[in-house]
Amino acid sequence: MFADRPRGRYYAASMAFPQTRLRRLRRTPVLRDLVRETDVLPRRLILPLFVEAGLDGPRPIGAMPGVSRHSIDSAVAEAGEAAALGLGGVILFGIPAAKDDQGSEAWDDEGAVQLAVLAIKAAHPDVIVVTDVCLCEYTSHGHCGLLREDGSVDNDSSLELLARTAVSHARAGADLVAPSDMMDGRVAAIRAELDGEGFADTAIMAYSAKHASTFYSPFRDAADSTPAFGDRRGYQMDPANGDEAVREALLDVGEGADVIMVKPALSALDLIWRVKQETRMPVAAYQVSGEYAMIKTSTMDDRALALETLTAIRRAGADIVITYFAKDAARWLAT
Ligand code: PBG
Repeated sequence: MFADRPRGRYYAASMAFPQTRLRRLRRTPVLRDLVRETDVLPRRLILPLFVEAGLDGPRPIGAMPGVSRHSIDSAVAEAGEAAALGLGGVILFGIPAAKDDQGSEAWDDEGAVQLAVLAIKAAHPDVIVVTDVCLCEYTSHGHCGLLREDGSVDNDSSLELLARTAVSHARAGADLVAPSDMMDGRVAAIRAELDGEGFADTAIMAYSAKHASTFYSPFRDAADSTPAFGDRRGYQMDPANGDEAVREALLDVGEGADVIMVKPALSALDLIWRVKQETRMPVAAYQVSGEYAMIKTSTMDDRALALETLTAIRRAGADIVITYFAKDAARWLAT
């Protein structure tokens, strides 16, 4: 019955012919922009900054091309740039002048992080400042808590020191404290101590689902925090586990976390999704040092790769992305 029709009409009437043509909306850049589902916006990005009080200016980090350790002054300048670019904030990591077995510079009110928070808040009061709360940069053994005699990390005695550290960051003016140690019960311990010390408004961004990952190696170079012996598998999560990541996140919600973090990002996109679905909390994902270094040193176009991966991390459900590309991404997105 279609014998007298032109060939094109015949196909249009048959099931095989593509009536639905998804390419229609891919035809031009403006059409693609119109229907794009996921945006990477500067306000969703947080810039990590390494601060070392003794420096007199930025000092490049070998394992992370384009990233430096900062003095207090250059950290303030970075925070100012972050604000000018419309970024969501900065997260600070401290490099102490001296380490000891307890990591006592972590809660020193004149430590690098505390001084940097004070200086950044004085110069740029509107910049959101997050502080990493952990002991590994500060302990001589490089583990994230206090050691028992057998070399394992003692959970409960470490909680007090982490809470003390969080309070000293809050006292300096941190908007959010971000415990990255993976001790059980740290969110509750920190929340109780913050509330007791008059910092009920300081929020907690919990590194909830944090894998024991090789992707952190450039960071450990940057912060000089490689464990002197052993590894972190006794407290960080097995990268093979997904249900456990959800349980970690739910526990942290119950203990009072305000933002839940998944880390690393690209190797845990499924967990970003699951944690978002299960908690309905603001979810942050950390595109860590190794993800950055891998992109930065690859033979591919680093700008395109950075934006593609950041988009994928957002599409997986992250509301916030912590990334060493934050400043670059904000500039790329503006052009
Ligand atoms: C501190 C901490 C680490 C990172 C964030 N906080 C290192 C680690 O756990 O070994 C890694 C961040 C990165 O790789 O960019 N515990």
